Amino acid sequence: MKPIRKAVFPVAGMGTRFLPATKVMPKELFPVVDRPLLQYAVDEALEAGIEQMIFVTGRGKGMIEDHFDMAYELEHTMAERSKDRSVLEGTRLRPGDCVFVRQQEPLGLGHAIWCARDIIGDEPFAIFLPDEFMVGSPSCMTQMVKAYEKLGGNIVCALEIPMEATPSYGVIDPGYRDGPITEVKGLVEKPPAGTAPSNLILPGRYILQPEVMRILETQATGAGGEIQLTDAMAQMIGKQPFHGMTFDGKRYDCGSKAGFVEANLALALAHPEIGAAMRATAEKLLAE
Ligand code: UTP
Repeated sequence: MKPIRKAVFPVAGMGTRFLPATKVMPKELFPVVDRPLLQYAVDEALEAGIEQMIFVTGRGKGMIEDHFDMAYELEHTMAERSKDRSVLEGTRLRPGDCVFVRQQEPLGLGHAIWCARDIIGDEPFAIFLPDEFMVGSPSCMTQMVKAYEKLGGNIVCALEIPMEATPSYGVIDPGYRDGPITEVKGLVEKPPAGTAPSNLILPGRYILQPEVMRILETQATGAGGEIQLTDAMAQMIGKQPFHGMTFDGKRYDCGSKAGFVEANLALALAHPEIGAAMRATAEKLLAE
């Protein structure tokens, strides 16, 4: 079994739900307290032993490249003033381990992943949707890599949500269940209300075999007129092992305003420096 050494981070979307904030600023760099969403996802990948980070970017996303580069003036000035530079850890990856490819048009998540095909080559790989913020110890991807080492094939993160919210997500048609593991018998992207095969959705973490790239090559557009990763994955079911893993931790949907604000609130309240003050502020605001 080949290890998971590479991860794809699709970051070329337009972030329309956050306009005008995303007119210039990539959604993936929005901070939760003091760390950008994309940095949390890269931290998660590093914890899971992944070495090479492949960012699928687009126009107006140059800030992402700068974030993972050396900030010479900043680092030099911090060193001169004896400031602690450990906060920048994880922003600079090993030379050669940080790859950028362009998706010229945001044609959908499946198309974004396919843009990384030549860098992935013939290896299984991970995918992180950085606006899905996963908090866990061990991290979500570490848990998934452990499951992959037992089961092989394809592993998707699976999350139970209220049935009425399923039309916004990729949904699993479940087979047998064994603790956190669910057999995936089918997948459907954004099922119309009342038609979802379960309330088990795909919240944005995947370990996939490279064959998915060959399928994406000819994948027709699906829900929302976009090339959907879910549709390509669905074609692998029955040909390769395919399982969902329910993650032991907390997920925040930071692609939505409510989820993003909730993540900030939760992490601020738990923060060692500002937590106590934030709790007092929150209580005061609620009392008003
Ligand atoms: P989303 O659907 O959450 O992002 O895609 P979006 O399309 O930018 O957001 P809204 O709906 O308009 O507000 C999940 C991830 O996939 C990337 C996005 O950048 C995000 O990180 N993505 C999406 C691409 O890279 N390319 C695409 O064509 C679509």
